Amino acid sequence: MCGIVGYTGAKKASAILIEGLKKLEYRGYDSAGVALQHDGRLVINKAAGSVADLEKSLDGNYKSIKVGIGHTRWATHGRPTDENAHPHCSCSEEIAVIHNGIIENHHSLRQWLKEDAGHNFRSETDTEVLAHLVEEYYEGDLLEAVRKATAKVEGSYALVVISSREPGRLICARQDSPLIIGLGEGENIVASDIPALLAHTRKTKVLEDGEFASITPENVDIFNSEGKLLNREIFEITWDIEAAEKGGYDHFMLKEIMEQPAAVKETMRQRINTASGKVDLSELGLNGEELTRLEKIHIVACGTAYHAGLLGKAVIEELAGIPVEVDVASEFRYRNPLLKENQLVVVISQSGETADTLAALRLSRQKGLKVLAITNVVGSSVSREADEVLYTWAGPEIAVASTKAYLTQLIALYLIAIYFGEIRGNLAPETAAKLVKNLRALPEKLKKILSEESLSKLRKYCDHLSSWDSAFFVGRNIDYPVALEGALKLKEISYIHAEAYAAGELKHGPLALIVEGIPVIALITQKAVFEKTLSNIQEVNARGGAVFAITQEGFNDVTKQVESVFSLPPVEDILAPVLAAVPTQLIAYYTALARGSSVDKPRNLAKSVTVE
Ligand code: AGP
Repeated sequence: MCGIVGYTGAKKASAILIEGLKKLEYRGYDSAGVALQHDGRLVINKAAGSVADLEKSLDGNYKSIKVGIGHTRWATHGRPTDENAHPHCSCSEEIAVIHNGIIENHHSLRQWLKEDAGHNFRSETDTEVLAHLVEEYYEGDLLEAVRKATAKVEGSYALVVISSREPGRLICARQDSPLIIGLGEGENIVASDIPALLAHTRKTKVLEDGEFASITPENVDIFNSEGKLLNREIFEITWDIEAAEKGGYDHFMLKEIMEQPAAVKETMRQRINTASGKVDLSELGLNGEELTRLEKIHIVACGTAYHAGLLGKAVIEELAGIPVEVDVASEFRYRNPLLKENQLVVVISQSGETADTLAALRLSRQKGLKVLAITNVVGSSVSREADEVLYTWAGPEIAVASTKAYLTQLIALYLIAIYFGEIRGNLAPETAAKLVKNLRALPEKLKKILSEESLSKLRKYCDHLSSWDSAFFVGRNIDYPVALEGALKLKEISYIHAEAYAAGELKHGPLALIVEGIPVIALITQKAVFEKTLSNIQEVNARGGAVFAITQEGFNDVTKQVESVFSLPPVEDILAPVLAAVPTQLIAYYTALARGSSVDKPRNLAKSVTVE
């Protein structure tokens, strides 16, 4: 949830930390701080506010300092105040700690440290216990002290610790929260996420759960929990630095929406055999016999990824003939799900670090089920712990509101449905071939939706929508998950209260809320339920609701009934959600702009939810 950067080398550490924290700011926004190692002491500078505020307060000072750690915080334990900002220090101020995660037993540790060991606490955070614990165990070797301290701790952590007594050395520890070490020439850098490293190096070593690292400008040594030195392979990052920046757009979200045709294409690439026209997911170690035996699939995810899962259910049931249950991960993990043999769990997570999704994955594996992960981040916890991984090749997604990752999750689910369906003999080869052809045509159709003409139409509609505090999204069949995702996107970044309903549910309650002019965004892309949805639109019209319909070109009856219509390029009905999602993303974007809200960093939210 928070952002972590540590540097040791020959350059000005504060500038490198600030630059890295800016790249990670999307992970935690309420406060920021650095601890710099200088002349046998630690210089701490931290406050509630943004990284830019921190940069101002440093005011170009500390030019000669070449070692330090920095942090951006998203509050979990303790309010966003100056005192609660990281780094946290030991009583002597000789040890400073930055931490991402949650120390679950911090109450009892704090009590022990205060009452029995005489430590003085300055903050309300769980993290501060770590600084005092390390101090308690310090006997001249920081690595050993961190190892002893973490042995007392229950919970999750990515930690970087420095001591004024050990110049040039950073000590790291990881449990259930990511830490990646970037390798340089005469310098090394550690961070909780890749964008903070890219300006410096592409060579990395990933720290695994239960491991520790000792980092100096010349060396990176990784140890297991018993203190054994490990040999870790170098992992080369292929992302372009530009890919992690805005690329000329006003917001990451808009840039990421615009990248969708490429992201969709990339996710299909190498998974569709152009010669045979067949989906080939042999990269997954699932054999035909296993797939034929499958009796049920459980899809587990959170937020937007959960909405992708709802569409996944419909397409897998339709194309592969396998019953699918979809669960929100935070419910799944606590509801004692009936997991049996011949079942498969599919977890979906853009970041691959969502705590509840990871817990659901672990629970499923404990119960002996195979887990297939759909994720966007290579080397993420989900990708490393799942039995099989199908990566979405969306590239780094920085905006909190997920767009391109969502669309590529849908593509991954179509690929799975077609592949499983063909192997199981549920999908006729000619039906599969037609679907594949139509899938491959999606990027071009997406480009049309992203044309300036479409954008200006949506901008105009959002001028109306932005003056309302409440809106509805409705749809039937596979339009319904798109409606759910559209409503989530709108509330997430424009702060308009938006609700999605299966259109047939309107008359069972929500119709009471339809008043003159209220915005209702109706998804009507499915021929099978076209007339039914049209009737629902008429019910809204009759009560004065202002319907904006998202439909397919050629569905002319909609245009007769509704004032504002956005027509998608014609598409095979089952694939329509991939196109229909895009105008809903743009509606959220332009409405947020019109209301002046913070598009890329909505209040109270973070990109990667690594705590429960
Ligand atoms: C998306 O717009 C949201 N910010 C959020 O719902 C997100 O999809 C959810 O937290 C799951 O994240 P993940 O895909 O990284 O697991």
